[in-house]
Amino acid sequence: MRITKTLAALAVLAAPFARALQLDVNDKTSIKNAASNIAYNLMTFYTGNVTNTPATIAILPNPYYWWEAGAMWGAMVDYYHYTGDPSYNEVTLQALNSQVGPYSDFMMPNQQFDEGNDDQSFWGFAAMSAAEKNYPPPSGSYSWIELTENLWNTQVNRWDVTSCGGGLKWQIFPSNKGYDYKNSISNGAFFQLSARLARFTGNQTYLDWALKSYDWSVSIGLIDAEYHVYDGTDDSKNCSDHSPVIWTYNTAVYLYGAAVLYNYTDGSDLWTERTKGFLSASSQYFNPFGNASNIMVETACEPSNTCDTDQYSFKGYLSRFMWASTLMAPFTKSQITAYLQGSSMAAAKACSGGAKGDTCGQHWYWNTAYDGYSGVGQQMSALETIQGLLAADSVPPLTDEELEPASKGSNSCS
Ligand SMILES: *[C@@H]1O[C@H](CO)[C@@H](O)[C@H](O)[C@H]1NC(C)=O
Ligand SMILES: *[C@@H]1O[C@H](CO)[C@@H](O)[C@H](O)[C@H]1NC(C)=O
Ligand SMILES: *[C@@H]1O[C@H](CO)[C@@H](O)[C@H](O)[C@H]1NC(C)=O
Ligand SMILES: *[C@@H]1O[C@H](CO)[C@@H](O)[C@H](O)[C@H]1NC(C)=O
Ligand SMILES: *[C@@H]1O[C@H](CO)[C@@H](O)[C@H](O)[C@H]1NC(C)=O
Repeated sequence: MRITKTLAALAVLAAPFARALQLDVNDKTSIKNAASNIAYNLMTFYTGNVTNTPATIAILPNPYYWWEAGAMWGAMVDYYHYTGDPSYNEVTLQALNSQVGPYSDFMMPNQQFDEGNDDQSFWGFAAMSAAEKNYPPPSGSYSWIELTENLWNTQVNRWDVTSCGGGLKWQIFPSNKGYDYKNSISNGAFFQLSARLARFTGNQTYLDWALKSYDWSVSIGLIDAEYHVYDGTDDSKNCSDHSPVIWTYNTAVYLYGAAVLYNYTDGSDLWTERTKGFLSASSQYFNPFGNASNIMVETACEPSNTCDTDQYSFKGYLSRFMWASTLMAPFTKSQITAYLQGSSMAAAKACSGGAKGDTCGQHWYWNTAYDGYSGVGQQMSALETIQGLLAADSVPPLTDEELEPASKGSNSCS
C-alpha cells in the first residue's frame, strides 16, 4: 500500500514536467517556435522519403488518403511563406514534383479510378499557393501556374450538364462510389481556383467560370440565403434536395474564393456582400455551445466523436483560407483574427500529448489539455491556425504581373 502511494505521489510530482506547447499569440518568435514544433511533429508522419521509392514519395501511410498528403504539402508551402523556415522545402518540392502525373495536371496513374475532383484540387491548392507565393520553382518544364492551369482545364472539361443544369461530380471515374454526388468541396474548390487564376492571370475565362460555378452552387441550393454551405446533392435526383451536413472546409473554400473576387473586383458590392455572408455564416463554428466564443469546432463530428480520418483535418482548411482572406479582403481581418487567436490558444493547449508533451489533439473547444486524438489532421489543423498568426506580416498573394513586371510591357527605360 505504502509503496503504491509513494509511486502515485511521484507520478503526480512528475506531471509538471509534461508541458503543453508554449504560445504567445502576440509574440512572433513564440509563434514561429510553436509552428516549427507542430510542423516537425506533422512531418514525422511522413515516411515516404525514407523508403524513397516512386510509390512512396509524397504519400502518407495508411489510413491517410492521397488527397490529404496534397493538403499537407500545401500547408508546408504556407509554412515556409509565413515563417521563413526553409527546412521542409526540399522534401515538399520532391513530393509536389512527384505527383504532377504524365500530363502535368495532378492526374496520377497511382490514383487511377480513385482520384476525385476534390482530391485533385487539394494538390492544385498547393501549386496555386506556390505560384502566388513565389515558392522555389518545380523541377519540370512547367511552372506552378501552368500546373494549376492544366489541372483547371481537366476540371472544366468535366463540367456536367447532363443533370442539375451543370456542376462537377465528386468523382471522376464512374466506377467510384459517389459518382452520383455533386458536392460543395469539388465545386467550391473549382470556384476558388477559378477566382485565384482570374486574379493571377487576368484571363477572363477564369472569371467567367468562377461566376458560373458560384451561381450554379447557389441555384442548386448548396449555398443558402444565409451562406450556409451544405455538403452535396444527388444528381440521380437532378439535385432536387441536398445533404443537411455542414463542414468547416466547405465554407472555407467558398469564403476564400469570394474574398479573392472581392479583391479582384476592387471591393465590389457584390463580392463584399458574399464575403461578409460566408464570414458571418462561419460564426456557427465558433460558439455552438455558448461557452467558448473564439474556439473553432467541427460541429458535424467533434461533439459526437464521429470524425473520420479526413474530417480530423478540416478545421485546418478553414484556418488556412480565413487567414488568406484577411489579406485579400482586409475588412475581415479583425473578426478572423479574434476567431483564430482564440483557436490558436486552445489548439496549443491541446498540443500536450505524447512522450514529449507536444502532440496535438482534436477537441480544442474542450479547452483542456490533450484529448487523446492524434494524427496528421490534428497536427495540420493546429499548424494552419497558428502559422497564420504571421499572415499580417507576410507578402500577400502575388499576380503574374508582380512576378514578371518586365514581360508585361512596363516602361523599361529608367
Ligand atoms: C525526409 O523528410 C524529412 C522531413 O520530413 C527530412 O527531415 C529527411 O531528411 C528526409 N529524408 C531523406 C532521406 O530525404
Ligand atoms: C434538372 O435541374 C435543372 C437545374 O435546376 C433544371 O434546369 C432542369 O429542368 C431539371 N431537369 C429535369 C428533368 O427536371
Ligand atoms: C485563358 O485561359 C484558358 C483556360 O486555361 C485558355 O484556354 C486560354 O488560352 C487563355 N487565354 C489567354 C488569352 O491566355
Ligand atoms: C487587395 O489585396 C491587397 C493585398 O493584400 C490589398 O493591399 C488591397 O487593399 C486589397 N484590395 C481591396 C479592395 O481591399
Ligand atoms: C463548452 O461546452 C461543451 C458542451 O457541453 C463542453 O464539451 C466544453 O468542454 C465546454 N467548453 C468550455 C471552454 O467550457
